[in-house]
Amino acid sequence: MQQLFRRKPISEIRSEHVDPQVEVEPGLRRSLGMWQLTSLGIGAIIGAGIFSGAGTAISGGPNHVGAGPALVYSYIMVAFACGFAALCYAEFASVVPQAGSAYTYAYATLGELVAWIIGWDLIIEYAVGNIAVAVSWSAYFQTLLSGFGISVPGWLGTDPRTARIAFQALQANPTMTDPAVIESARIWETAPQILGFPIIFNLPAVAIVALITWVLVIGIKESAWANTVMVILKLAILAFFILIGAFWVRPENWTPFMPNGWHGVFTGASLIFFAYIGFDAVSTAAEEAKDPQRDMPRAMMISLAVTSVIYIIVTLVMTGLVPWRDHGNADPLASAFSARGYDWAAGVISFGAIVSMASVLLVFQLGQPRIFYSMARDGLLPPIAARLHKKYHTPHVTTIVTGAFVAFFAAFANINEVIELTNIGTLFAFVLVAIGVMVLRIREPDRVRPFRTPAIWFVAPAAIVSCGFLMFQLPALTWKRFGLWLGAGLVIYLVYGIRHSRLRDR
Ligand code: ALA
Repeated sequence: MQQLFRRKPISEIRSEHVDPQVEVEPGLRRSLGMWQLTSLGIGAIIGAGIFSGAGTAISGGPNHVGAGPALVYSYIMVAFACGFAALCYAEFASVVPQAGSAYTYAYATLGELVAWIIGWDLIIEYAVGNIAVAVSWSAYFQTLLSGFGISVPGWLGTDPRTARIAFQALQANPTMTDPAVIESARIWETAPQILGFPIIFNLPAVAIVALITWVLVIGIKESAWANTVMVILKLAILAFFILIGAFWVRPENWTPFMPNGWHGVFTGASLIFFAYIGFDAVSTAAEEAKDPQRDMPRAMMISLAVTSVIYIIVTLVMTGLVPWRDHGNADPLASAFSARGYDWAAGVISFGAIVSMASVLLVFQLGQPRIFYSMARDGLLPPIAARLHKKYHTPHVTTIVTGAFVAFFAAFANINEVIELTNIGTLFAFVLVAIGVMVLRIREPDRVRPFRTPAIWFVAPAAIVSCGFLMFQLPALTWKRFGLWLGAGLVIYLVYGIRHSRLRDR
């Protein structure tokens, strides 16, 4: 029992240095200033959540139980929840400026068992999150191809579950007119079959993950300037969407504003939380920041504030373009334009979206091996998790394992289910960070804190309550999957980590 709750002293964590052999991006070491960190945050935040997830959150799937135009309220609510969590992250990032993010913070405050659980949980945020981004990338890629008259056969461009659900919904209600549902149902009926089972999988999603994995293995370096270029592109595309889209808004599409009342808004909030994930990924760059104690908290807060404002405006324009029920597809920004007959504008959006999302994939798939590395450094994962490729000097084993995991599930996964799982996992990490920051205030009140969470006894409980509330909006099935994932992690810890922990050796 004593070992399970043994904490790693902060002084020891801070004196640890990343082994230069294992460091993924030596070029970035202590080279990132505040604006580069902020740009890293925006780079990791803006992706599938707005380009894709927003569609289902507005329309609510085949049964139209979504938030409608009131998704704007969902974005505002979640901005507050993430703001509270970001303030807690910021204090930790200033006290423990180390890669490993929430995992490292938990090791310092809540003990080894909780740290392991968070580390295991972060796989959901990074690797499972990337499954959703890959599926979303695929949808936009197919839209872009269709602009050039090329179409991927339906059975190679979606997942079986989406097609089956649409087929069942159409059978239950044959008068349905939603083109996305009708198309999905058609795929289910016409797909080639093996032993009576329709063969349906998402080939472009697998292909992009394979490509990203290959690039990461041969050693591409994410550099600050490349990230900045990518962020400028994202912001330019969204500015284009807002400025051009504003001219084509039909205010009557905003009525009814709240078709499913607060229930729709809350459910929407639990879905679009995904769009905000990434500000915490800034904290994994702590070891590359020039002045992490000063800049990390600011970068997290600024990137979160900028993206919140963008999301709110984009959602208003999006829901003003077409009726809320018609957003039920995986590329709502582009299809909003094409539904209004502006295919050229949809093409511009699709191009920007695939570049933006490829970069999110890259950043998150770079981050996952680094978290594994932190855990392997503490002995909680086998040393192979930090092994390097002899020629390319990249953590190729974990990069390939992560890539294979993401590619396999991206082939068959339903994007909404994956987003829900990612959200519950990330919200859980936020809750634990908020608890941890309070625990550290009590245990070590005199520790120097370059950034202090303001009004901590309000902000941290507010983070716990708001993130907990969003967790409870998620379906029971998501909770079950999450419980199974954590249970599997616990077994692995009891079989391996508990015996090999470096802290235990000492
Ligand atoms: N926030 C990131 C996205 O929306 C994960 O893609």
